[in-house]
Amino acid sequence: MNTVEIKNLTKAFGKITALDSLSLNIEKGKITGLMGADGAGKTTLLRTIIGLLVPDKGEILTLGFNPVTQKDELTPLIGYMPQKFGLYEDLTVIENLTLYADLKNVPHEFEKMLEFTKLAPFQDRLAGALSGGMKQKLGLACTLLGNPEFLLLDEPSVGVDPISRRDLMQMVREMINPETTVLWSTAYLDEAHSFDTAVVIDKGRVIYEGKPHDLGATAQEFEDKVIDLMGGYKQEVSQIAENYTLLKDIKDCTVEADNLEKKYGNFYAVKNNSFCIQKGEIFGLLGPNGAGKSTSFKMMCGLTKPTNGTARIMGIDITKDPEKARSNLGYMAQKFSLYGSLTVRENLEFFASAYGIKFKNRASKVQEIIEVFGLKEYADQKSEELPLGLKQRLSMACALIHNPPVLFLDEPTSGVDVLTRRDFWNHITSLAKKGVTILVTTHFMDEAEYCDRISLFYHGETIALGTPQELKNKARAKTMEETFITLIKESEKE
Ligand SMILES: Nc1ncnc2c1ncn2[C@@H]1O[C@H](COP(=O)(O)OP(=O)(O)OP(=O)(O)O)[C@@H](O)[C@H]1O
Ligand SMILES: [Mg+2]
Repeated sequence: MNTVEIKNLTKAFGKITALDSLSLNIEKGKITGLMGADGAGKTTLLRTIIGLLVPDKGEILTLGFNPVTQKDELTPLIGYMPQKFGLYEDLTVIENLTLYADLKNVPHEFEKMLEFTKLAPFQDRLAGALSGGMKQKLGLACTLLGNPEFLLLDEPSVGVDPISRRDLMQMVREMINPETTVLWSTAYLDEAHSFDTAVVIDKGRVIYEGKPHDLGATAQEFEDKVIDLMGGYKQEVSQIAENYTLLKDIKDCTVEADNLEKKYGNFYAVKNNSFCIQKGEIFGLLGPNGAGKSTSFKMMCGLTKPTNGTARIMGIDITKDPEKARSNLGYMAQKFSLYGSLTVRENLEFFASAYGIKFKNRASKVQEIIEVFGLKEYADQKSEELPLGLKQRLSMACALIHNPPVLFLDEPTSGVDVLTRRDFWNHITSLAKKGVTILVTTHFMDEAEYCDRISLFYHGETIALGTPQELKNKARAKTMEETFITLIKESEKE
């Protein structure tokens, strides 16, 4: 039995063909993972399956219904979690759950959900005040309410920490019944082995469909095979780094956190955070959702006022002279924070002028960035219409446009495909070699290995600080993922 049957499905948006005569069956009662490059067509496929988009050509049956003409019959059977899930930011966690339960006519039984998502202690917090990963978990909990027959999850694990990602998968498995079908799109290829079936799409076509194990027995092998299927990764000289000129230099710490602290009421989001980063260092801030990473970033950029302590960027105190301190850094926020209604080019032009790039150099700088970031095809598209990974690429491009000596990257690769991630890191490591100081967060443990030093952050405090190898030794672990889990669990026991 198939939940979805698709034959020769085609869907184009202007010049871009999102789905190219795609055929696919999705088996009932199974968890199917949907993987592929940014812009490969994952979201378009999910939206077409439930009738939110009308295909140009081809046939599609979802739970036996035509999703376009029989939408009313189909919709009540479906649970759909879009990339940008509609949480009510001015309602609390528990109010959001209650509201979705009422909409779906199900009882107010949330204990298990709250436990799985680790949101129980925060049930009375406004959804708008949750960390990125906590919001993601709440969105998933709301989608799971009412036991839908068919769950479609569009990148539910974006920005979710490695421990919670395991919990999410387990949560879905435990909360659904054996007949429920799940279609789960993801950029985390290490999730592949928890799916019953893996589907890899590229340029609107299925390039692999089968058991994850048949493609590669281990996560690494699987990732390598997918990269091969997608045409392979060729490391090239980073043009961004090549063209970078560091205008400023200092001897001491380029970035310094000095007893940073942030309190919301009685709650410490960040408690006493201190570190000193040297020129050209890649410093990773790692930790579970809600640990206080983004709050630290925001304080260090002068976007949030610290309750105590301060930060210095290139020696300039952020609380005393925020403007001057900020002119030395490029900041890429965790949440897409560009102008959605502006095109890719317009966003870059805006940042170029905001960062004081001279008018005569602006057009050529923008064109250069468009080319090195592979945004040429999308230059005149509105940025809100871009797939997630491309939005991230654009955000990073905007943060870099004025050649700052310091870069703050808050989850630059969340939701970004595997090839683009490698490309991002090629730029990051090349920029560091040029002397750019980089502070970065990530939930991809393979990326943690690229950092020179890591601060493992939990409940607003540093619980370990050192090189990746030092942390591994401390945890007596082989991989970073193991290290992360061990050190967090050990700190919980204390
Ligand atoms: N305005 C606010 N009011 C109350 N609590 C807040 C507010 N802003 C943030 N918090 C809380 O501070 C804590 C730290 O959040 P932060 O966004 O820094 O986490 P994070 O480490 O970046 O997590 P993630 O990995 O999910 O992005 C969370 O518990 C969050 O709910
Ligand atoms: Mg964050």
